[in-house]
Amino acid sequence: MQVAVIGAGHVGLVTAACLARIGHDVVANDDDLAKLEQLRAGRPWFHEPGLPELLAETIAAGRLRFTADKGEAVRHGQVIFICVGTPSRADGSPNLQYLEAVAREVAQALPAGSFRLVCEKSTVPVQTGDRVAQVIAREGPPAADYEVASNPEFLREGSAVHDTLNPDRIVVGTDTQRGTTLLAELYRPIVEATGCELLATDRATAELIKHASNAFLATKISFINSVARVCERSGADVELVARGMGLDPRIGVHFLKAGAGYGGSCFPKDVAAFAHRSAELGVDFGILRETARVNLAARQRVLDKVRDALWHLAGKRVGVLGLAFKPETDDLREAPAMDVVRGLLAEGAEVIAYDPVAGDQAVDLLPEIKLAPEPLDAVEGAHALVVMTGWPELTQLDPVVARERMAYPILVDARNALDAEAFGRAGFTVIGVGRPVRNALTPAWR
Ligand SMILES: NC(=O)c1ccc[n+]([C@@H]2O[C@H](COP(=O)([O-])OP(=O)(O)OC[C@H]3O[C@@H](n4cnc5c(N)ncnc54)[C@H](O)[C@@H]3O)[C@@H](O)[C@H]2O)c1
Repeated sequence: MQVAVIGAGHVGLVTAACLARIGHDVVANDDDLAKLEQLRAGRPWFHEPGLPELLAETIAAGRLRFTADKGEAVRHGQVIFICVGTPSRADGSPNLQYLEAVAREVAQALPAGSFRLVCEKSTVPVQTGDRVAQVIAREGPPAADYEVASNPEFLREGSAVHDTLNPDRIVVGTDTQRGTTLLAELYRPIVEATGCELLATDRATAELIKHASNAFLATKISFINSVARVCERSGADVELVARGMGLDPRIGVHFLKAGAGYGGSCFPKDVAAFAHRSAELGVDFGILRETARVNLAARQRVLDKVRDALWHLAGKRVGVLGLAFKPETDDLREAPAMDVVRGLLAEGAEVIAYDPVAGDQAVDLLPEIKLAPEPLDAVEGAHALVVMTGWPELTQLDPVVARERMAYPILVDARNALDAEAFGRAGFTVIGVGRPVRNALTPAWR
């Protein structure tokens, strides 16, 4: 099938490459010429495991092309995916101007008399599709034959290629059988290979499924972070509480990881946008305000723990391990680590940070950060070490060597990512999240 993808970012580029991978003929458009140049050379402009290989394969096979010309993409695509950003405004509402601009351009390029499915893949508030349809009705040719559909995206950065080719579910929201049939045909190779459910709904329901899913997952994280606070006051261990809860299949183990809270380009903005849209519809979705409040407090707690351990931060050297909002990505949007680093710098600390892929971008945003090429370089002479992103490679850090290199053996593990017992035995005071502070005198747990 001929497919167009507008917006070659974290969602659009992965979607384009994966659809090309399963045999479709894809043209991707972006309005950023520098990104397009890089993409044509087969190089993604962000870090995503497996994506460079997939680009190389699909470009070489002639099934994926890039164009700066939106008209060319629209004329090519029987299905036209809109994948541009929908960032937050200050009041929590999403900024849908990019979406409107793209809808207008798509409308103007729609050929008359040939059916096209214009599909929102960007995350949008419920009923945004009505607006998109209105724009196309006003701006498109009178004889345009089209439908606006919603096909929300559930991929996770860091495993985006795998998630797209092995989804838990595919949601297609259309208002006609013709639209559903087209999207079912588009995704047939994935559905057949994985057996995943393709859930067909009306457009508004599909839009709502995405916001409700992200808001629910974010609420799970804020819930366990609140439990973590109770654990810290009572001596209980949140890791075991979460395990004990998660063994109940009605609860499940996923997204019950206490830490520095969620970040990234989706959860914070989607929680805010869902609350905002609900309020517009006359529904006070108070849980979501609390979810967001607890999430920001989790970042503040990390800073408080470092200050509690060091008394004053001014003149102290703090090693920070991990800057990206989660492992396996270089995405710094709404990264908890960046807020914590800002706080440390504001109080006069010197920050030496290590991240396997996001370091250079972090320095672009905060030039005061000193970059450590290796984790051990972040440890050197540090008065405290703070783990902000649970990169798997950090578990290789040898506590004995780290202890020797540090000024004070203090570990604030904001992700409960390192082996607290091993660091405790090596002489560290280990301040995790929702678990008792450990040191060399703490008896072994079990
Ligand atoms: N990142 C994720 O993990 C994720 C997951 C699911 C859903 N989403 C949603 O998908 C949407 C896109 O998110 P993203 O992370 O891919 O954003 P992104 O910023 O990575 O990519 C957006 C791309 O659109 C391009 N663009 C902007 N305006 C354009 C225009 N007028 N014409 C052509 N291209 C244009 C940008 O240059 C950029 O390359 C958002 O609504 C987001 O909420 C994101």
